[in-house]
Amino acid sequence: MRRGPSHLKLTSASCQFAYWNGGELRISNYLARREFSTNPATLEVIRFFLTPRTIAEALVEFRSYSQQSVARTILQLINAELLLEYPSAGWERDQLVSSSWGPWLPEGAFHFMTKNTPTVARAWSKVAKLKTLRATAAPPQFKKTRDAAAVRLPAPEIPRDRFFATLHARRTHREFASGKVSLENVSQLLRTTWGVQGYFESNEFGKLPYKTSPSGGARHPGEVYLVALKVKGLETGIYHYHARHHRLARLPTKANPRLASAYCADQSYFSGAAALFIMTAVFARTMWKYGRARAYRVVLLETGHLCQTFCLTATRLGLAPFSTAALVDSLIEKDLGLDGITESVLYVAGVGLIAGRPPAPRAIVKMTD
Ligand SMILES: Cc1cc2nc3c(=O)[nH]c(=O)nc-3n(C[C@H](O)[C@H](O)[C@H](O)COP(=O)(O)O)c2cc1C
Repeated sequence: MRRGPSHLKLTSASCQFAYWNGGELRISNYLARREFSTNPATLEVIRFFLTPRTIAEALVEFRSYSQQSVARTILQLINAELLLEYPSAGWERDQLVSSSWGPWLPEGAFHFMTKNTPTVARAWSKVAKLKTLRATAAPPQFKKTRDAAAVRLPAPEIPRDRFFATLHARRTHREFASGKVSLENVSQLLRTTWGVQGYFESNEFGKLPYKTSPSGGARHPGEVYLVALKVKGLETGIYHYHARHHRLARLPTKANPRLASAYCADQSYFSGAAALFIMTAVFARTMWKYGRARAYRVVLLETGHLCQTFCLTATRLGLAPFSTAALVDSLIEKDLGLDGITESVLYVAGVGLIAGRPPAPRAIVKMTD
């Protein structure tokens, strides 16, 4: 049975912080990405609702203010999702952040506040962007250490082997030939980048996996999901990769090129790719051992390692790799069935067939002063 409004309980969101901005007090729900300007008295209302209470109780507590102003403040707080119905799905989601991210809060709010790229088309036209950027000088690309003795380095002899050739051949591709990549290549990419290569016995934490990329404490928080668009011998779809058993599990969500581009904040060139590799992190794996927010950096850094390994492997296989951090995280998380809190999207890489001739390996080192 639904309770009437007089029994409705409200409680303050835990995912919130307040700050001063040019003399204005701003209160933000960093999970819901809602914020508004208010006066300091509002903080008292928020404190009152740290314990779930009814509106009637608030009117009694704040009887020195007019009922109208208290009601207006409560309404504003509800609209900004700073007061949540208790209990409710919204409240449960809010609680999931404090229960699963507790050790990394409040700094971990950064993760939630920077989700979901606004697409350039919607937020900022390319012309407007260029105009704004050109209005200020770009910072120097290289740092010159003044008053320091220069030490000349020998002209490097770079071995002309496959490893160095691969390093220098890697480029970000945004055009792809229309054919399919082989399942064998997809398997090689998954195995090399995200597969478990073996296990080692650690002194205190038992058997730990190792992969081709380093991982802080060998916690390996990364997971990967394959969006197969043009893979020979594999149905178009979205799959989770099981790193231990080197196999795929098909998810119910359907995949198509338009969706792939939507995931990448409407960057249409990636709709021509054959496969996307969506990198996520299960934060608890790292947080369990490293209970300080600095370890959030570790998770991000590791995703970079994985991506570089992916790009180099793809290059060595003669494929056209790319990576993008411009993502619509919430859309991807919904399609992957993730809550976006305990496991969240961080980075996307992809491959296609090289359009035209493979890019020639560049001159190995060209030194300029
Ligand atoms: C973290 C990260 C995010 C990137 N995001 C995008 C992106 O959103 N769209 C894109 O086209 N390229 C993206 N790139 C690729 C860069 O634009 C590219 O690396 C750069 O232009 C240099 O070219 P190169 O990779 O061929 O050396 C990203 C690269 C990195 C490392």
